[in-house]
Amino acid sequence: MTSTFDVKAAVFTGPNERLEIKDLKIPATPGPNEVLVKMAASGVCHSDLHALDGDWETPAPMVLGHEGAGTVIAVGSEVIDLQIGDHVILSWTPSCQRCEYCVSGNPVLCQLANDTAYKHVFFDGKPRLTDGDQDVRSFLAVGSLGDHAMVPTSAAIKIRKDAPLAQAALVGCAVTTGIGAVVNTARVEPGSTVLVVGCGGVGLNVVQGARLAGARQTIVSDISDEKLELGRTFGATHTVNSRNADLRESVNELTDGRGVDYAFEAIGLAPTIEACYESVRRGGTAVVVGQVADGVTIQIDPFVMSDQEKKLIGSNYGSTRMSIDFPKILDLYMEGLIDLDSMITDRIQLSEVNEAFEEMRQGRGIRSVIEY
Ligand SMILES: NC(=O)c1ccc[n+]([C@@H]2O[C@H](COP(=O)([O-])OP(=O)(O)OC[C@H]3O[C@@H](n4cnc5c(N)ncnc54)[C@H](O)[C@@H]3O)[C@@H](O)[C@H]2O)c1
Ligand SMILES: [Zn+2]
Ligand SMILES: [Zn+2]
Repeated sequence: MTSTFDVKAAVFTGPNERLEIKDLKIPATPGPNEVLVKMAASGVCHSDLHALDGDWETPAPMVLGHEGAGTVIAVGSEVIDLQIGDHVILSWTPSCQRCEYCVSGNPVLCQLANDTAYKHVFFDGKPRLTDGDQDVRSFLAVGSLGDHAMVPTSAAIKIRKDAPLAQAALVGCAVTTGIGAVVNTARVEPGSTVLVVGCGGVGLNVVQGARLAGARQTIVSDISDEKLELGRTFGATHTVNSRNADLRESVNELTDGRGVDYAFEAIGLAPTIEACYESVRRGGTAVVVGQVADGVTIQIDPFVMSDQEKKLIGSNYGSTRMSIDFPKILDLYMEGLIDLDSMITDRIQLSEVNEAFEEMRQGRGIRSVIEY
């Protein structure tokens, strides 16, 4: 019999059910290419909420959470680049480091991760957690809403030890997704004009990514004045509350009828994706970062697309190369070049996780971070 380790975690049991805090088991010895991480902190991201609210077909039972950081406490027999005691940020896309996507520098598109982690199982097709006789999956093979997580080695990115782990956790999703969409996916040039629709954890990081890239104008749009004000503190130059104003008309006015060079949608709704596309100038680029519910489609005018050479592109995980970008983004924070402190609007216990999701549903705060 293999020995096991206790994990206290927030378990998804079905759409629209409250997460249940349960005591689960995980093998005490990681697989050859896996590590066991004692979690320090996990953010709650809207992608967890999509699963929770039934926007996406999601298997149960499963430990949610994919934005976390912690300390390695056990390593598999073939792990060579991580040691017990290392601080790591978890990546919700493990990379096989062998497929055409990994080898060509696009690990976020890893074939094996697509076939396994995106179905919430490990590379061998199996989950790691159990609840009595029942298997329990880990969201995106991470499951950071538990006090311990087993992950493939490629999903544990070693970071400097002097960085606070609550802020580091956010680099595991919102920060990298937002900054990466600007810097890696769209490659926004200095002097560009940018529109960011949705000022949540992801959108605000698009805003600070635009500032890093040297955008000369960053317009933010949201339906909450509180979020718009936060947009300003992260670098926005103009705000549009789309409850009171038509976004396309406002962008037109703010850009002398030209439209923006780049527009980023960071909510996941068809009308706002369409509005982003319509708000870019001739030759401009609209970037879909927000993720829609299953089955949602958009309407765009293909004549405009060809006639005006407009581009509509997607960004997954900020097109990041985790082992390069996570430490780099953390350095930016430690040097004071980006703000992660104000992203944490609540520090809570795991037992309060359902309330954190309710706050997110109401559009309040930026990120609630669970500290273990
Ligand atoms: N592409 C990726 O790799 C990736 C990674 C992480 C998250 N996401 C997705 O990004 C989206 C945003 O995630 P988040 O964690 O920032 O969410 P969030 O809930 O923190 O933020 C959403 C924001 O949108 C605003 N909003 C809601 N409805 C609106 C409307 N109709 N018009 C204008 N603003 C509106 C809310 O007020 C809030 O500020 C989600 O769909 C999430 O699944 C994508
Ligand atoms: Zn996320
Ligand atoms: Zn791969």
